[in-house]
Amino acid sequence: MSNIIIVGTQWGDEGKGKIVDLLAEFADVVVRFQGGNNAGHTMVVKGEQFISHLVPSGILQKKICLLGNGMVVDPAVLLDEIDYLISRGVSVSPDNLKISEKAHLIMPYHNQIDIAREGMKGHKKIGTTGRGIGPCYEDKASRRGIRFIDLIEPEVFSEKVRAVAEEKNFYLKHYLGTETVNPDQIIEQFGKYAARFAPHVTNVSVEIHAAVKAGKNVLFEGAQGTHLDIDHGTYPYVTSSNTVAGNACCGTGVGPKEISGILGIVKAYTTRVGEGPFPSELFDDIGDRIQKKGAEFGATTGRKRRCGWLDAVILRNAVRLNGLTGLVITKLDVLGGLEHIKICIGYEYQGKMLHDFPASLKILAACKPVYETLPGWSEDISGLRKMEELPENAKKYLRRIEELTETPLQIVSVSPGREETIIVKHPFETV
Ligand code: GDP
Ligand code: IMO
Ligand code: MG
Repeated sequence: MSNIIIVGTQWGDEGKGKIVDLLAEFADVVVRFQGGNNAGHTMVVKGEQFISHLVPSGILQKKICLLGNGMVVDPAVLLDEIDYLISRGVSVSPDNLKISEKAHLIMPYHNQIDIAREGMKGHKKIGTTGRGIGPCYEDKASRRGIRFIDLIEPEVFSEKVRAVAEEKNFYLKHYLGTETVNPDQIIEQFGKYAARFAPHVTNVSVEIHAAVKAGKNVLFEGAQGTHLDIDHGTYPYVTSSNTVAGNACCGTGVGPKEISGILGIVKAYTTRVGEGPFPSELFDDIGDRIQKKGAEFGATTGRKRRCGWLDAVILRNAVRLNGLTGLVITKLDVLGGLEHIKICIGYEYQGKMLHDFPASLKILAACKPVYETLPGWSEDISGLRKMEELPENAKKYLRRIEELTETPLQIVSVSPGREETIIVKHPFETV
């Protein structure tokens, strides 16, 4: 029995989808524990690309996929995603896709509030995905949220929608100066979702517990990344959920003692979408080159991702915050062809070296990244499948990351495809 959590270590888009899809072969159950359709997880199998926003990335491996209670789910998007997967030949049914009765629903007013607020903030915007994530988590915390269990109890649902719509409409009209919502229309529309989703709704905690008891392997799929965590990220330039490994337990209803390994996904360089601090960001030709070669465009919003050197300060932060037991390095191929590669090993602040990530954005803005320079390699490594075959300088780069993070390397990804991977220590054999 191995129950493994997979989390992003940076600001999202590290390649979690590819690694979850790869490892799902060895799992029986794959569960998402937080976030919503702000996520965009890419899987490439036999040259075909699939992007999932809500459905766990174990779906292509025909595993039981669960949406945990920590998620916020837009039912319209989930329906579209199910239809899209089915149209691509993937089987999706209440037998293999189950939704926690406690997961919260993203309602139409959540998207409207998200978009209108960002519009009002001008240059101070967060750069959200506009998917209603923050407003939905706000309602969960203030106990005004609507859950899947409410959706399938029509009277409860109508009562809650009517009560909350009154307040939302006041805010939408008088503060945000935008369109109001019609509760009758919402009730009618969501009645259709209720009929469609009722067979999928379940107690995810009980499902996982049964799987664990039966000795099955569970994979917990994180979305976003450690530095987008609501508590530990670059607040307020973060998402609205806890993205760190600890939330895999809260967001699914599983106790920490069931967890046997925690893998941190590390892109071989750093990217960020949206606003917020990014100490090792590149504004030169090298940044452009990485952006183009890495095809760094958001899988959800299509926005160009900001690119920079690998930052060991944030990686060490991720190791501690998540309790990482192993690393997966992705997109190593993208760095091929660069004469030199830099790693940020600390931040210089008022003449002193900071080794830990500061909470103050003011301090962070005044920090200068301190780099170590390593030699690059010119070979195309995307066809390689063994560690020994990698160019010496690529191996040096990987070893240096292991040293700086004091965490063992388990997998290296050298191209988008499922098999385009070097397994150093298989997570399901070694944990
Ligand atoms: P996620 O949100 O963490 O699942 O990552 P995304 O799917 O948003 O972004 C990662 C992108 O990198 C996707 O387009 C993947 O297909 C691609 N990718 C993943 N691993 C590799 C790799 O090793 N090399 C290259 N070149 N692309 C990769
Ligand atoms: P995956 O799972 C990268 C970013 C947004 C914005 C901030 C808040 O694909 O790695 P939100 O809509 O969540 O309120 O936006 O978080 N963001 C992501 N960036 N990858 C993601 O997901 C992201 N999900 C949210 O760009 O800066
Ligand atoms: Mg993504």
